[in-house]
Amino acid sequence: MKISIIGAGYVGLVSGTCFAELGWNVTCIDNDAKRVEQMRKGITPIYEPGLDDLLVRHGNSGALSFRCGADASLASADLIFIAVGTPMSDDGQADLTQVTSAVTEIAPYLDGYTVVILKSTVPIGTNDQIEALIRSLRPDADFDVCSNPEFLREGSAVQDFMQPDRVLIGANTEKASKMLRHLYQPLAMRDVPIMTVSRISAELAKYAANTFLAMKISFINEISDLSEKAGADVAEVAMAIGKDHRIGDKFLHPGPGYGGSCFPKDVSALIYQARQFNSPVTLIEQVQAINSARKLAMVDRIAGALGGDLKGRTIGILGVTFKPNTDDMRDAPSVTILPALIAMGATVRAYDPVGMNNARPMLPDVEWMAGPMEVFRGADCVALLTEWGEFNALDLPDARALMHGDALVDLRNVYSHDRASEAGLRYFPIGTRRHSDDHTTR
Ligand code: UDX
Ligand code: UDX
Repeated sequence: MKISIIGAGYVGLVSGTCFAELGWNVTCIDNDAKRVEQMRKGITPIYEPGLDDLLVRHGNSGALSFRCGADASLASADLIFIAVGTPMSDDGQADLTQVTSAVTEIAPYLDGYTVVILKSTVPIGTNDQIEALIRSLRPDADFDVCSNPEFLREGSAVQDFMQPDRVLIGANTEKASKMLRHLYQPLAMRDVPIMTVSRISAELAKYAANTFLAMKISFINEISDLSEKAGADVAEVAMAIGKDHRIGDKFLHPGPGYGGSCFPKDVSALIYQARQFNSPVTLIEQVQAINSARKLAMVDRIAGALGGDLKGRTIGILGVTFKPNTDDMRDAPSVTILPALIAMGATVRAYDPVGMNNARPMLPDVEWMAGPMEVFRGADCVALLTEWGEFNALDLPDARALMHGDALVDLRNVYSHDRASEAGLRYFPIGTRRHSDDHTTR
């Protein structure tokens, strides 16, 4: 079978290289000529651990090729994946312009029975709409449209693709379902469940999965705040409930709120769609409200460590990407938190191991540092936003010696009271007792 993938982004490029790893012949098509040139040279345009090795290996073997824009080579494709972005529109619904333009681009080239597969996260009913669109453009074409949502986490996308909890196929014909099951057969042989449901169920399941995960995060973030007030330790509470297999111990780490290219937009998109179906998901609306409020609450927490007045103060920031092991800044909490600190009169100096190139244009008033220790130099307070592994190993006594002040606000609980006090730092973790002489209002 020949596979073409439209959109070589976080999802399309990972899927293409992994399908090649499964033994298939794949062509990745993207309308960004620079990105295509980079990939042809074996350079991945995104930061994703393990991706460059696959890209080089399968680029060299010829199993994986790249083209800029759709062309007649698509005629030989048996499966065409649509993996372009589906960003959030201003009113909260998913923006499908990339999807419809990609489908319009490929329609003229359909030749022989072809399955067009939506891998991008799309609103309920989009598969039906795309089927009608192709039918209108090519009444003669022999094709089916299927849903095959991705469950890839950035930073572990290759692993999530090669060892998924399940492969979800949304198909309305046995023929299309059979082709996709054949495509994923190498995973089925490793006991990965391959499940086929209706297209609409698959579309809703993707949103249900992401919004449920977002709910777990808003849940533990509220339990974290309650733990502080009640004198509990949120890590102990999370461990105690996470051992219950009905709850599970994943996604119970408190933080500054969820970000990224998926949760914020998928939560908004489901809220929008549910209202359209006159069946509002009020619980998920609250999940969104909690997450939005949390980012601003983090500003108060950082300011509180300095008594509330930030005029003339210098604040160091460790990590700005929405999570570690990615360069993605889309909807990162730092994009809300850092400008708010600057608006309160602070000078903000930040470092991120990988995200600074993407972050600079988004945070023009931030001073960017060459390394983590530079963030401590002259700072009145340092706040950790993203739990990059390299921050664990920092020598806190050396860091403290560089500081002007002594406050360390740890929004991911990377450090501990002991390590901080040994270094002479006032320590402000989340979800557990704070430094004894903290200035924040309770
Ligand atoms: C993915 C999924 O597609 C989306 O549904 C999910 O919600 C988020 O993750 P992502 O891979 O992050 O989106 O998109 P992006 O990183 O923006 O890459 C999209 C790629 O498609 C870009 O390289 C863009 O140049 C390309 N593109 C876009 C096309 O090739 N053709 C188009 O018509 C539009
Ligand atoms: C998510 C889903 O996990 C993935 O299945 C889907 O396909 C795409 O969206 P991603 O957004 O890449 O993946 O990252 P994820 O690891 O889920 O983290 C999302 C956000 O939640 C990050 O901001 C992260 O910091 C935050 N998070 C995650 C927490 O705050 N606490 C946790 O315990 C887990």
